[in-house]
Amino acid sequence: MSASHSTADVAVVGLGRVGLPLALSFADRGLTVVGIDNDPVRLGAVRDGTMPFQETGGQALLDRVLSGAGGTSNPGRLSLSERVADAARARHIVITLGTPSFSHIEIDMRDIRSALDDLLGVLAPGHSLILRSTVAPGTTEFVAGYLAKHRGFQIGEEVFVAHAPERIAAGRFLEEIDTLPCIVGGVGARSGEVVGELFGAFEAPIVQTTPVQAELAKIWANILRYANFALPNLLMMDCERYSANVFEVIDLINRDYPRGGIAQPGFTAGTCLRKDFAFSEERSAAPGMLLAVSRVNESVPLFLLEGARRRLGSLANRKVAVLGLAFKADTDDERDSLSHKLIRLLERELADVAVHDPHVPTPTVPFAEAIDGAEVVFVASNHSEFREARTLAAIAEHAGGDCLVVDPWNCWGAAQVFAYASELAVLRPAHPATNPTRG
Ligand SMILES: NC(=O)c1ccc[n+]([C@@H]2O[C@H](COP(=O)([O-])OP(=O)(O)OC[C@H]3O[C@@H](n4cnc5c(N)ncnc54)[C@H](O)[C@@H]3O)[C@@H](O)[C@H]2O)c1
Repeated sequence: MSASHSTADVAVVGLGRVGLPLALSFADRGLTVVGIDNDPVRLGAVRDGTMPFQETGGQALLDRVLSGAGGTSNPGRLSLSERVADAARARHIVITLGTPSFSHIEIDMRDIRSALDDLLGVLAPGHSLILRSTVAPGTTEFVAGYLAKHRGFQIGEEVFVAHAPERIAAGRFLEEIDTLPCIVGGVGARSGEVVGELFGAFEAPIVQTTPVQAELAKIWANILRYANFALPNLLMMDCERYSANVFEVIDLINRDYPRGGIAQPGFTAGTCLRKDFAFSEERSAAPGMLLAVSRVNESVPLFLLEGARRRLGSLANRKVAVLGLAFKADTDDERDSLSHKLIRLLERELADVAVHDPHVPTPTVPFAEAIDGAEVVFVASNHSEFREARTLAAIAEHAGGDCLVVDPWNCWGAAQVFAYASELAVLRPAHPATNPTRG
């Protein structure tokens, strides 16, 4: 059989936060799509017409695709399967599986390897295999080599392999799929061209490059963000040591200074930033440099907890409210969030922890219950709700003016990482600056 007998245009393997919006977007542009995931609960939700996670505009897109309305005059279709081998029904196979890292600085490729092995026997000339997942440098060439070794394909002539990294931020998928340049790193003579045609379904410009350059560009964009946020986080720790105010120092660095630009402190982790640096660190010429960046970001919860303990003494048997579980503002994504680490650390202090997050699926207590009688409030996510003035007013009223508020995000513009609720209410400016989201 050859891929010219295909009954679908594109298969998307892994209907997660990247794969599902992508599959729906292809269908919305009139392509016939096979969506594949080995999680029957996820497939069931999609089949029943429910987005399994928040994505701006995602539910309306799913409704449109399932109703057959489509965004074009020629509506596409989405069919679903649990079997990776069913991807071979499509000409293009896009892999959007998770790529975590092992704890010892190495990409964990098990899901990718498993999908490759499922596909080996069913791939045929004409197929293209696209890695959309974030991968370590060299992975795309490895995949091409694996197919050549086990099936003898001429990659780039018979079967096409490329890396087209996902660079979209959660919550902005539908906006960015048509605007962010789509990087395509194809192996061999024609892979880039073939895969570029697939992504031509969207409005964004296609930028052709080599596979390893595509891999490096994706990973290093995340490393840049991760390191950018580590600097203000380290500065926050230094400021505490010198009894200085980190927000004032940042203002001094940035104000009317053409070479300023330091970011704001905060909780920096999440499913991509926390692990992508490890893919580069695997073979780094300066081993440890990015690990140090990671260690700074990872130690922010402990730094904040110790700051609270320095001011209040032991936290044992004291009520502590944690606001926010998501790693990113206004999303329901709590994977690899540092809030969980903060909560674990607080529990080890024997504090009575109450958690509130209005977005995430994990059950949390209502806001009023979380802050009622709290002696410390940690703002762990900078959700819009938390940045409202009335949130601070409610803390001052219900937790008490002498409740210590720990806010690395500067949610209310009062410019204090550690301050009592009554002080913050006085210091808060009429129009607080906003702190951009990260993760
Ligand atoms: N989430 C983001 O914002 C984002 C942004 C850019 C890049 N990325 C990268 O994209 C990739 C996917 O990320 P994600 O957040 O969508 O992950 P995810 O965990 O949300 O999705 C992976 C999906 O694959 C499914 N799956 C796992 N193993 C499978 C198998 N063997 N067969 C079929 N299905 C399988 C899971 O059930 C899940 O639904 C990762 O490499 C990530 O680093 C993510």
